[in-house]
Amino acid sequence: MYAQPADAPKRKPVTVPGLRAMKARGEKIVVLTCYDASFAAHMEAAGVDVALVGDSLGNVVQGQSSTVPVTLDQMVYHASLVARGLASTLQVVDLPFMQYRDPATALAASARLMAEGGAAMVKLEGGADWACEVIAALTIRDIPVCAHLGLTPQSVHKMGGYRMQGKTEDAATRLRAEARAVEHAGAELLVLESVPAALAGEITRELAIPTIGIGAGADCDGQVLVTYDMLGITPGRRPKFSKDFLVGRGSIREAIDAYADDVRAGRFPGPEQIAG
Ligand code: KIV
Repeated sequence: MYAQPADAPKRKPVTVPGLRAMKARGEKIVVLTCYDASFAAHMEAAGVDVALVGDSLGNVVQGQSSTVPVTLDQMVYHASLVARGLASTLQVVDLPFMQYRDPATALAASARLMAEGGAAMVKLEGGADWACEVIAALTIRDIPVCAHLGLTPQSVHKMGGYRMQGKTEDAATRLRAEARAVEHAGAELLVLESVPAALAGEITRELAIPTIGIGAGADCDGQVLVTYDMLGITPGRRPKFSKDFLVGRGSIREAIDAYADDVRAGRFPGPEQIAG
């Protein structure tokens, strides 16, 4: 393991069943994206519950205009770097574009993310029948799955841009049905991205598995941000639902601590970050 900051606390490892237990206890789950060992070590020290090796690395590390070009080899590489910085924080890794198009492809890709990259759980986008079939194929082989609904960045070309989803009654009904379907298929965790706060709250109350929100209001069981956004590193405009936690703080570690404290205390997201 990579050197840990001197004040890194000793704590019990965060586990997949442990996330469900956190939901049952009403404890908020703190999640950040992570792409390398140094950030991972700071997240570990700050007690972040889940480090998500997101394919958003295509945007913020590689400078691509979408996550579509990110490859499986790149995800395995970044996941393996992150794994070296973590001890007790749970590592979730994104399956990249088209690497879960069918159960066989998803199994092969997930095996690499777990065996070479150190993933404890893989994440995939979508809740249609084909995605549920993939989720079921992974979970019956004991590969924990995090589903991702709402704004699914790998579908940016189909969606015609990065826009809030689930705004009409029909779209909200579809999203609720997909959330139930991914849980039924075996997903252990659900990211809800850019959906109305009230809808995310309803889904969160209906499901037994924890929901992690990004631009989805304060009622999800946990929150995730792209770390480069919450440190103000991402060039251009920060998404409205994000917040620069480095402002007024002296170090990246203090910013991560502040984010973790605010999520746990229910202070983040606040009214300024919650879009209707
Ligand atoms: O890739 C990513 O960083 C993500 C988060 C935005 C949830 O999927």
